[in-house]
Amino acid sequence: MTKIAVLGYGTVGSGVAHVLDTNGAQVADSAHDEIEIKYILDLRDFPGDKHEAQVVHDIDIILNDPEVEVICETMGGIEPAFTFEKRALESGKSVCTSNKELVAAHGPELVELAEKNNVSYLFEASVGGGIPVLRSMNDSIRHEQLDSIRGILNGTTNYILTKMCQEGADFDSVLKVAQDKGYAERNPEADIEGHDACRKTAILASIMSGQFVKHEDIYTEGITKITGEDFEYAKTLGTSIKLLGSCERKNGKFFAMVAPFMVPADNALATVNGVFNAIDIHGNMLGDVMYYGKGAGKDATASAVVADVIDMVRHKGKHIDWNLRNVPATVESNDNAVRKFFVRCDASDKDNATKLFANLAEVKAEKVSGEFAFVTSEISEKEFADNYAKLSGAKGYLRML
Ligand code: HSE
Repeated sequence: MTKIAVLGYGTVGSGVAHVLDTNGAQVADSAHDEIEIKYILDLRDFPGDKHEAQVVHDIDIILNDPEVEVICETMGGIEPAFTFEKRALESGKSVCTSNKELVAAHGPELVELAEKNNVSYLFEASVGGGIPVLRSMNDSIRHEQLDSIRGILNGTTNYILTKMCQEGADFDSVLKVAQDKGYAERNPEADIEGHDACRKTAILASIMSGQFVKHEDIYTEGITKITGEDFEYAKTLGTSIKLLGSCERKNGKFFAMVAPFMVPADNALATVNGVFNAIDIHGNMLGDVMYYGKGAGKDATASAVVADVIDMVRHKGKHIDWNLRNVPATVESNDNAVRKFFVRCDASDKDNATKLFANLAEVKAEKVSGEFAFVTSEISEKEFADNYAKLSGAKGYLRML
């Protein structure tokens, strides 16, 4: 029997209890041991809850109990989660977490600390919800040279974009539904401004590069400027609009960014709808491999946390190592990335736009009038930004995949 503690009894933490209650036999079979929640740490009490007797309010009860071998940190946020995780690892307990904010900020040093204490630090649920992408990167495809990762990494924004595209729904009402379904962050700005996808991209980029990619070094745009007109043009162009996190190795340089893109319909990422996430990884021998599944929500995310618990129970007394060193990675400036852009401006700006952007291709949408829209040739982000700023009637832009 392995005893564990869950820190934080919110959406994911209560999901961990639910997965263990529902799939206890399968979990025991997989772990080769039974797993029992001994404590749940939360500020609140949960009268009437099946696990109310396990609820404690003092972290020291958990950290001082030698019977507890594994901690699931599902609180979210940096503090006190960071302090609790560090203390747990130093007390010789393995830690797993869904806390992408903390993993993006301190993951490599927590892996280092786990190694020092001969325990493990796993964080599968921090990227792609229930999708087993990190374990696969660290195991099945670790021998590959990874050239690129592109992913839809935020369920809330993908849900919003899907509803706006398919139903013409308005932004705020769809966001409200995503919040009610438990997909959105406490502060949904983290979702819609791209910060959550940025943290997940930083985690993927760190594992891809084997070094620490800081989320602050990743250029990020969210989805708040996307309008109904953009979807009309996207249809004309045979594309879908998706918020993508991407990491790419090109000519020895490492690029990473988060932004909404127009994705061609024949790219599998274009067909990923609703709360689903997908991550396309390209390896030099393997080619493309695509991971797809629920990127948010209680049970799916909790299932990934439980998978980490099982892994740690199977590796008791050993450190599960990561190709992730606590040394800073160099991320190339986004200014130097080259691509095509879709641009909308006032109809009166047509001549100016034509002079500024050589070889542009005009785009028309049946339901939109009074403006001039076009796709640029391949240009650098810097050149694009400089020229776009010179359009007096600029209405918006999107990157083309
Ligand atoms: N708010 C996040 C999302 C939750 O929508 O993807 C899962 O990380």
